[in-house]
Amino acid sequence: MLKFSLIVAVCKNFGIGIKGDLPWHLKQELKHFSRTTKKINDSNKKNVVIMGRKTYFGVPESKRPLPDRINIVLTRNPVPSDYPESVILCSSLEQAMKRLEEDNDLKSVIENVWIVGGSEVYKEAMASPRCDRLYLTEVDATFECDAFFPEIPSDFKEIPLDDDMAKGVQEENGIQYVYKILKKQHESTNGNN
Ligand SMILES: NC(=O)c1ccc[n+]([C@@H]2O[C@H](COP(=O)([O-])OP(=O)(O)OC[C@H]3O[C@@H](n4cnc5c(N)ncnc54)[C@H](OP(=O)(O)O)[C@@H]3O)[C@@H](O)[C@H]2O)c1
Repeated sequence: MLKFSLIVAVCKNFGIGIKGDLPWHLKQELKHFSRTTKKINDSNKKNVVIMGRKTYFGVPESKRPLPDRINIVLTRNPVPSDYPESVILCSSLEQAMKRLEEDNDLKSVIENVWIVGGSEVYKEAMASPRCDRLYLTEVDATFECDAFFPEIPSDFKEIPLDDDMAKGVQEENGIQYVYKILKKQHESTNGNN
């Protein structure tokens, strides 16, 4: 079964977005997002980013589709003319994952699959048996938000950061934040997966 991981930055009141944009300006944090979702071991492969329609259109026009990654947008009302040809439209998270598993051309070129928001997609993703890790940036401040991160299920446990991740408290523009990785513990493997 093809797995995925999530990546998100969340503030103290669990906010992730406001008016289609991020609530904060954290340049290094955005670089962390970009680096993490692009990271591959096999240079012939690419990672996939799966996102809801509003998250896709929240990315500045000049920066979407997210470069060097296969972009999948989830929408129940696909309007293909709104998207460049390279964007794959799917009507559910599971349909997207099945497409990646069953399309031989895609299957042969993908390395990791990242769920990059927003709220509903994150919620469904964290409940899925396909879920591996949650890369979480905890922003130590409160922002006005209209999109929120769902409650993290209790089967997510913190694990050590990857070697290339910045450890300890980070600070930009007077805003402090920390990186964390949480791993979903799957019953069938006693958590040793
Ligand atoms: N802080 C972070 O790390 C972070 C990450 C991502 C996003 N954000 C922010 O969060 C906000 C956007 O998130 P959001 O929760 O409002 O919206 P969203 O999830 O990005 O988009 C919602 C839309 O996506 C489609 N959709 C969502 N789940 C679906 C599913 N399971 N199957 C099919 N279609 C699905 C639907 O599109 P249709 O209406 O077309 O059917 C839905 O209206 C923005 O402000 C963005 O900047 C922040």
